[in-house]
This record gives sequence, C-alpha cells and structure tokens, in this order.
Amino acid sequence: MKLRDDVRPFRWRKRGKKTLDILDQILLPGREKWIACSRHVQVARCIKDMNVRGAPAIGCVAAYGLALAAFERSFSGPRALRTHLDSAARTLAATRPTAVNLFWALERMLGAARKILSGRDAGPRAVEQVRKVLETEADRIFAEDLAANHRMGELGASLLKKDSVVLTHCNAGSLATSGWGTALGVIRAAYQKGKVRKVLVDETRPYLQGARLTAWELHRDGIPCELITDNMAAHFMKTERVDAVIVGSDRISRNGDVANKIGTYGLAVQCRHHGIPFFVAAPVSTIDLDISDGGRIPIEERSAREVTHIQGFAIAPAGVKARHPAFDVTPHELVGAIITEKGIARPPNSKTVPALLNGEARVPSRSLSI
Ligand code: MRU
Repeated sequence: MKLRDDVRPFRWRKRGKKTLDILDQILLPGREKWIACSRHVQVARCIKDMNVRGAPAIGCVAAYGLALAAFERSFSGPRALRTHLDSAARTLAATRPTAVNLFWALERMLGAARKILSGRDAGPRAVEQVRKVLETEADRIFAEDLAANHRMGELGASLLKKDSVVLTHCNAGSLATSGWGTALGVIRAAYQKGKVRKVLVDETRPYLQGARLTAWELHRDGIPCELITDNMAAHFMKTERVDAVIVGSDRISRNGDVANKIGTYGLAVQCRHHGIPFFVAAPVSTIDLDISDGGRIPIEERSAREVTHIQGFAIAPAGVKARHPAFDVTPHELVGAIITEKGIARPPNSKTVPALLNGEARVPSRSLSI
C-alpha cells in the first residue's frame, strides 16, 4: 500500500541566495505557510519558538542554519569566518536544551569546518571550501536521517503483531524528522504490512503536537486514527484493546533511560500496569553516551503561558502560576525496546544501548567551537 509521504518540515534552496524554508508548525493543521530563513538567527528563532520541532528535525535545521551562517555575509578571511561560525553555533545551541540531536548536528558541522580552518595554512580559498563542505555535510545529515527512519520503520514493524491497535504520544512523524518519522515511521511501515488496524493519538497537552500534527499526518496518509485526550489513555488500555505504545525520543542516556515529550513517562507506567509493550523509536543520533542515566538529561522548562493559554485563548485565571516541563524521563526498566536504524536494544540497558554505537562516542568533543 502506497502512502502519500509528501510532508517535509523544511527544504534547502541551493540555487540563488541560500535559503532554508521552514514549514511553520505553529499554524498547522489550519495553514501551510513556509518561513524563508536566509540568516542563522532566523533559524535559531524558529527552533526556539517551535515553528520547527522534534529532535531529528531540530538537528537537521540547525545543520542548515550553520551552513547559512557561512553564506549570509562576506568574510575578510578564514579567521573571520571561524569566529562567525563559532558564534553562530552558540546561538543555535542556545535554543532548546533537551534534544541532543541539536548538539550532535552542530558538532558534526563544526568538525567538517574544522578540517579546513584549523590548519595554520588555511588559505584565501578556505572560505569557499568551508561553505561547500558545510552545505554538503548538512545535506548528508538530512539524507542519513531520512534513510535511518525508513530502516527503523522496517525493524520496528517486526515487533508488532497483525492488526494491532497502537497508541502514540506527541509527534514523532515526518514533521519531527527529515521525513517518514521515527515512531510514526514504524507505524507507517507496519501499516503497509497490514499490522496496524488503528492508531490512538494522544492530543499531547500543552502544545497539542498529537492533535495538530500527528492526527494531520495520519489522516493525510489515510491511516485509521482516533484522537484522544491524554487522560483517556489508561481508560482505553483497560476497557478496549491497545497492543503497543510507540513514541520517539529527544535524548537517550547510556543506560537506556528515555527523555521524551511530557506525559511519556505516565504512559509507560500505565503500560506496565496493563502488560502492554512500550517501545521507543529513535535514530542513534538521539543516544547520548556521555550521559550515564536519565537523571542527568537537561529538561527544558517552557513558558507557563503555553499551559494557561491555548492558541492565545486563556483557559486559566489571569495571574495563576503554572508549570511547564516540556519533557520527562522514562526509566529504561519500563521500556520494552529501543528501535534504531542500527538495530534494536531489547531490553535497553547500559550494555545493549552502547552496543548500538559499538561503544563509541558519536561526537569527539562537546566544545561547540572550531
Ligand atoms: O517539544 P517537541 O515538539 O520538540 O517534542 C518532540 C518530542 O518529544 C518527540 O517525541 C521527539 O522529539 C522525537 S521526534 C522524532
């Protein structure tokens, strides 16, 4: 069965003035509007304000954001370019703290530039070389992410039985990646094999990624889905059939603890109580071997206004205090399997997770400078 698979959260314009177009996810599903970014600060603003979101997509657009930094002005020489790229990397890195793909992608981009700029004899052609190398590296990050999603979709589909009812939280689909999706990639691949009867979509308060984005993607692809509010999940686990819960992740620690959208931990607890498998799908770029356990993962605290208001409309008394941790951490003991493009860690722990990366740290440094 062919799916539309025509959603991409960003596109890079190579010809003419280099531009990164970002699909404004704040306006979805009502409007499809693209934000044209020709400067890295615009990209940083889009990440921070969540016009683009989802860990792998954030990594990809940050990579293109750094490439833009090299193209957005002229430089007197390699030294000036180096200073500018270091500053741009810091600006892009300061947007969202939890998704490790952001730092991973920036380190990869800086590493590519470093090869040219760190030599003492970086000549006058170095600026042009760096521009070319950065554009190529960002294209690679994008293409590798897309391929990884299709691979993890195939691997993850093998964990589902025929005719499953699957529940997902937040949006780990095409919009959150370079395309196809992680958790939704598994669901899409499994649906094509006749393994998914229906998807229950958590609305995902407060930002409503499930209601606005996941339901939009699934509906567009013709995959049967039902939208539920977050507090209905346990009820359906008890009174109807839920065969598996599949979610994405923003950061996975060495021992397999999983940071993901707030509400994920609660779902995992509910799964354990009802004997339902709880699966996580993520590329290996989401694994942070430098962090031993989930307690060390930085959790982004977003504005209380996103809780007290829905799309600008106040749903709470003016002046009331509200909390907004954007993510929570699910301990690895509650995770049945972590599905990656390199294989499945099942059960995830401090042996099986590093083994996915052959025990190697993916990025040699965390300096975020050239
Ligand atoms: O705050 P968001 O919308 O960026 O959070 C996104 C999630 O929590 C996703 O589940 C995660 O990034 C994985 S996306 C493939």
